[in-house]
Amino acid sequence: MKVAIIGTGYVGLTTAVVLAYLNHDVAAVDKDESKLNLLQEGKSPIHEPGIQSLLEEVQHTIRFTPSVAEVVPEAELILIAVGTPPKKNGEADTRHVEQAAREVAEVCLPDRHYTLVVKSTVPIGTNRRVVEVVEDVFSARGVRGNISVASNPEFLQEGLALQGAFYPDRIVVGANSDEAIDTLRHLYQPILEQTFDPPSEFPRPAAYHLPPMMTTDPSSAEMIKYAANTFLALKISFINEIAGLCEEVDADVTEVARGIGLDARIGSQFLRAGLGWGGSCYPKDTAALLRVAAQSGYEMPITEAARTVNFRQRERIVEKLHGTLGTLKGKTIGVLGLAFKPNTDDVREAPALDIIRELIATGATVRAHDPIAIPNAQAALHRENTTTPELQFTEDVYELSYDADALVLVTEWDFYHKLELRKLAKQMKTPILIDGRNVYSPEEARVAGFHYIGIGRV
Ligand code: UGA
Repeated sequence: MKVAIIGTGYVGLTTAVVLAYLNHDVAAVDKDESKLNLLQEGKSPIHEPGIQSLLEEVQHTIRFTPSVAEVVPEAELILIAVGTPPKKNGEADTRHVEQAAREVAEVCLPDRHYTLVVKSTVPIGTNRRVVEVVEDVFSARGVRGNISVASNPEFLQEGLALQGAFYPDRIVVGANSDEAIDTLRHLYQPILEQTFDPPSEFPRPAAYHLPPMMTTDPSSAEMIKYAANTFLALKISFINEIAGLCEEVDADVTEVARGIGLDARIGSQFLRAGLGWGGSCYPKDTAALLRVAAQSGYEMPITEAARTVNFRQRERIVEKLHGTLGTLKGKTIGVLGLAFKPNTDDVREAPALDIIRELIATGATVRAHDPIAIPNAQAALHRENTTTPELQFTEDVYELSYDADALVLVTEWDFYHKLELRKLAKQMKTPILIDGRNVYSPEEARVAGFHYIGIGRV
């Protein structure tokens, strides 16, 4: 199938590469010149396991261009995967989605049928708005175009994007037209029936079952996306709230999570207590959902509380440092991990950045490490003028810990599991380890010489 994808961020690029791998004829559009240059040279602008090699493998069925007009007329299906950045009031800004829809409607041929799919995460009602935008363009052009609009929310997790795209739990389609549903079923057929040969880096999981394609109306599909993210976010906040109480009563939250997770109704995933959620999704999507609710005069106290608990986790880490070191003024703190989660260089809404800001504000010196996210963290902090001599970045964890007063593990990179704890503890001024993701066994860390403090465990 001839597919045009507008936007080559995490969602657009992953989708483009996977559809090209499934032998669709894919053209991806992006206006960002530097990104486009990289893509045209066959290089991925994002760090995502497996994407570079897959991009090289699909070179013959994929192309990248800045021009909607060049690819849309001949496409059968057009996916909009542009960003919906948060406005100051938390609302998701759908300007780019509407603009993409407008550009599509301006260049599509009146005598052909197109399916226009909104994959970007958009506030409930946006698909209806896209239909209006398309109709307005058609009437301005004086043509009776034929575009069916559908919602097809994306559930990809950064760091696991390709795995999730080849082996999804479900595909959700919200559409009012059978034609659009049929086109999307045809697009995803190799995934729905698992008829493709798995790429060598992504073998089919042994216990994987064929994913259902759920069809519904567009507004419900849009709501499914927000409800899914909000539910996962509050599951994490719930275990973090329990973790705080575990600390008060000498219980261990990792044991509690194991015990409740064995109940199939609760499930064991997303019960890892720690520094909570960051990234481009949960913070933004929970805020956007609250905006949608506020516009209807509806209160969502559970979602509000999930946010409060989440951001409190960052403050609690600094309180833990105060609790052991007293004043932080003049103290040297090593921060392990800058990315909002492992296997990505994404630092958007990363807990590490808030913690660094707070430590610098209290007069501490910070040495920060990350296996790959240092450039992005530097750029983010530089933009807001947080770069000071008291903030140093280093690629060597042992250098970072030398003479430091405490270490804080913020991102659970595999790399940190393998550190020589004894060596680290030995060269610190005071061997304090705040394990913000409960990565280490408290016992092991203590034997290695650390004063160990985890989240919700004794
Ligand atoms: C999330 C959802 O998982 C995806 O399904 C969705 O498509 C995506 O948002 C999106 O809307 O685009 P993502 O933000 O990439 O994906 O990452 P997650 O793996 O969900 O992790 C989010 C945050 O939660 C991370 O900061 C992670 O450290 C934290 N987390 C996760 C916990 O603190 N505890 C857990 O048990 C799990």
